Amino acid sequence: MKCSYCYLLLILVLVGLQTNSNFFCGADPIDGFTPVPLTEWNFESQKPYDIPLEERYSYKDGVRRLWVYANDKPHSPDSHTEPRTEIRIRGLDYSSGVWQFEGYGFVPNGTSGAIIVQIHGAAKGATTLILRIYNGDVRYYTRDLMATGLYDKWFRVNVIHDVDGGKVTVFIDGIQKFVGKDKGPGDLYFKCGVYAAPPNVSYYMESRWKDIKIYKK
Ligand SMILES: *[C@@H]1O[C@H](CO)[C@@H](O)[C@H](O)[C@H]1NC(C)=O
Ligand SMILES: *[C@@H]1O[C@H](CO)[C@@H](O)[C@H](O)[C@H]1NC(C)=O
Repeated sequence: MKCSYCYLLLILVLVGLQTNSNFFCGADPIDGFTPVPLTEWNFESQKPYDIPLEERYSYKDGVRRLWVYANDKPHSPDSHTEPRTEIRIRGLDYSSGVWQFEGYGFVPNGTSGAIIVQIHGAAKGATTLILRIYNGDVRYYTRDLMATGLYDKWFRVNVIHDVDGGKVTVFIDGIQKFVGKDKGPGDLYFKCGVYAAPPNVSYYMESRWKDIKIYKK
């Protein structure tokens, strides 16, 4: 009698370990990290230079909504970059250690060819990590597929940058989806929002964010 319970437990443990190693110990991307206190000052907005912020950004009931059009101007008159409306985490640039961005994102169906999360900066080049959405799929740049079917629902994003270990890790909804090499130390910071990333840019691009947090080890 008793042993049938043992077998059941064993099976549950094995299934749990196979489907998700976090199943039983309750591990979470933020385990072992310390939250960094944020104020509104830490959320710097970047938007087309000739348009008032409220025409590309709203912050209501804890939800930051950022949108941009494919024919918008860049964020400054002397820039030749693609249009963007983004939150740049300010005052927490880093060049060593282990840092983490966390946020809940929402991308409406129709937004395509847009970067929704970045680690800006690298030893060489502009960015260390890009999460680009196209047709509901999120990829590392235009390469490794991390998640599909992400339109019209909230999803949790955790990005860990171990600068000393030269490694970036991405979790979507608490599941590890990507691990890769970083691009060396530099002036590094996190961003989220929408930044046009050709090809296949939709005319309208939007992402929403809530519960944005920064952690470090
Ligand atoms: C997005 O919208 C298009 C056109 O309305 C529709 O065909 C498609 O199924 C939608 N995709 C999702 C993931 O809802
Ligand atoms: C652009 O769209 C085409 C299909 O229209 C697709 O095959 C291709 O993967 C897309 N490229 C990117 C980088 O999104």
